[in-house]
Amino acid sequence: TGRRLLIAGNWKMNGLRASSQALARAIVEGAKALPASVELAVFPPFTLTAEIGALLTDSPVRLGAQDCRSEKSGAFTGDIAAPMLADLGVTHVILGHSERRRYHDETDQIISAKAEAALEAGLVPVLCIGETAEERDSGRAYETLSNQIARGVPAGFRGVIAYEPVWAIGTGRTASSDDIAQTTAHIRDSLAAHLQTGDNLPPILYGGSVTARDAASILAIETVGGVLVGGASLKADSFLAIAQGAV
Ligand code: G3H
Repeated sequence: TGRRLLIAGNWKMNGLRASSQALARAIVEGAKALPASVELAVFPPFTLTAEIGALLTDSPVRLGAQDCRSEKSGAFTGDIAAPMLADLGVTHVILGHSERRRYHDETDQIISAKAEAALEAGLVPVLCIGETAEERDSGRAYETLSNQIARGVPAGFRGVIAYEPVWAIGTGRTASSDDIAQTTAHIRDSLAAHLQTGDNLPPILYGGSVTARDAASILAIETVGGVLVGGASLKADSFLAIAQGAV
């Protein structure tokens, strides 16, 4: 298709050192078989950022983080700033994941500020949006997504958007290809209106129970720029099989 596709593995709060190193090594090895049009990125927990980063040196596999704070430094106990991530060789940072919105009360305003901080530090924000089951069932999915874009995506945003319907995350209930095609087209239009640009729009990833079984059909959708994988990214075999779906 000529498109570049990003296959992102969000490890969430999983993995101790030995098993995570083995996972990273296997991904680096498997990545050698992929064409340059397929980009892999792994998002280990903060405790492993440096050592997984060391394993990715000389590999095209990108190093990501799962969050950052909007301030550059200061009295924010327990938080991590974007320049600290860039300092470790991190290139991508997930922001506004539904689990952060839910368990850390992150608002669109907070997420927008984080995205600006990430961009300023030279990182690619992977900014997550998505409707809940309740919003979907009451016919407010598009409205929810448009609002998340209008409030949470800063002007001049250069990064990646991840569409993750909350009801599909970790549930084994992947959205259908038709759903993903229609919703990502809506997101694209919403982004174009909000960012006031027709071209150079941020790529849109799909996330939510992606497995090797459905990866190829999802990645074939014109408006999809890749996938954000949770559970299936914790095993090299399934993660690499998903990446093969992009070939
Ligand atoms: O960031 C990844 C998503 O939340 C998807 O997670 O593949 O385990 O459903 P999942």
